[in-house]
This record gives sequence, structure tokens and C-alpha cells, in this order.
Amino acid sequence: MKKCGKDYIVFPLDVDHESEAKQLVGRLREHVGMFKIGLAVFIRHGPPLVTWVASQAGAKVFLDLKLHDIPATVSQAMRGIAALDVALTTVHCGESPAMLAAAVEGSQGKVGLLGVTVLTSVSAQDLTAAGYRENRSHDLTELVLHRASLAKSAGFSGVVCSGHEAALIKNRLGSPFLTVTPGIRPAGEQGAGDDQRRVMTPAQAVAQGADLLVIGRPIRDAPDPAAAAQHIAMEIDAIIDA
Ligand code: C5P
Repeated sequence: MKKCGKDYIVFPLDVDHESEAKQLVGRLREHVGMFKIGLAVFIRHGPPLVTWVASQAGAKVFLDLKLHDIPATVSQAMRGIAALDVALTTVHCGESPAMLAAAVEGSQGKVGLLGVTVLTSVSAQDLTAAGYRENRSHDLTELVLHRASLAKSAGFSGVVCSGHEAALIKNRLGSPFLTVTPGIRPAGEQGAGDDQRRVMTPAQAVAQGADLLVIGRPIRDAPDPAAAAQHIAMEIDAIIDA
């Protein structure tokens, strides 16, 4: 079946209370492609919430735990995730191909793996302070590409990256390798004063080759979240049908 606008939308369940999360799933499951459960919500509500979301008709789960540990621990954690009916999960690309291989082994082909390359909150100065040589730290894009290629070689399905890197990653690593991009703001809502920087509209990100767009606050904080999601889906449809 052809992918349509709503299938691109990943809605993060970034709320404190389980009741709010469940209410949002009920309101949005027909209007978004996937629900992202991050570390903060997972620590509070754990596997029961993951299982509940996955059991709702039409709802898929992206469990964003950003694993980073010794290979044996990552493999064991991944086996637990693979038992949870989760479509996608995240692992830091880090500095150890052995850890990435362990993640793939632990996933047993039951969950798609995404590599976190360089967090968008990290700057070139942060990397220099962390001990990276200047030639690496001053070219974040090259580091992102290098880590994305490590993830691909290990057998990952794709990476989380900024919309500004999606086209480059697709060009270097091929179009089946997924790019999942946060930092999306619908047309007319850019520069609205929140903490995301280097934002893109949904249409721009899809045009750059993004396969999935993480869109939180523009939907969650809208007066009618379902209508906001539908509006974004239409903006994406206009690009993919063009
Ligand atoms: O659209 P909004 O800014 O509200 O989306 C925030 C979500 O995107 C959070 O769940 C956050 O973890 C996630 N995210 C991000 N930047 C990244 C990676 C993930 O904002 N680089």
C-alpha cells in the first residue's frame, strides 16, 4: 500500500501522566503513523504502556531509549525490547561497532534499529571539550555520516538525524536506509520561540528524503491535535503527490 502523509508522522508521547498519553493515542491513532515513547515516559510507565499503545488498532510504537552500554548489556536489553511488539527503537552509534552488532543480534529481526548519530543538542565546541580532534569536531556532518555508515554496516535500518542531513545520508548510504528527523515545524509556525533550532517544515523534510518526521508540540499543543495532524498530513501529501 502506498505510503501517505499521515504515515510519515511520528508523534512523541511526551506527557507526564499515563491518562494523558492514552487520551492522545485515542485521539491521534487514525491521524499519525507511529507513537514515540521516550526514556522519560518509559521510566514512569514502562512496558505496560508500550504494550497498551501497540495493542491499539492502527498504533505502532517507536521506543526511543537510546541504548549505549557494553555489547552484552545492549544485546540483553534489546532482547527485552524485541519482546514488546515495537516497530522501531534507538541505539547510540557511539564508538563501538561491537555494540551495534550486539544490538542487531539482540533484536532477532523483530524490531527495526535506528542509530543516533550526533544529538542535535551537541555542538562542535562540546565535541572539542570532550576530547575530539578539531578536524572531527569542526565538521559535525562528516561525523554524522561516519556514524551513520557504521550503523548501516552493522545492519541497522536507519538513523535519527536533522532534516538538513537527510539528503546527504540518502546520497551516501542509499534510499532504503531510513532517515528519521525531529525539529519539524509546520509552515507558518517556524521561529515560534521554543527550543528547537535549525527547523524545517514537514514538506521540506520530506523533499530532503526524510522517511519519518517526529512532530510533537505543534500537534500536542494545538487546540485540536487531530486537526493539526491532519493538516500536516495534507502538507506532506501535497509533496509526495506532486
Ligand atoms: O516537535 P517537538 O520539538 O515537540 O519534538 C520533540 C521530540 O523530538 C522529543 O520527543 C525529543 O526527544 C525528540 N527529539 C528532538 N531532537 C532530537 C532527537 C529527538 O527533539 N535531535
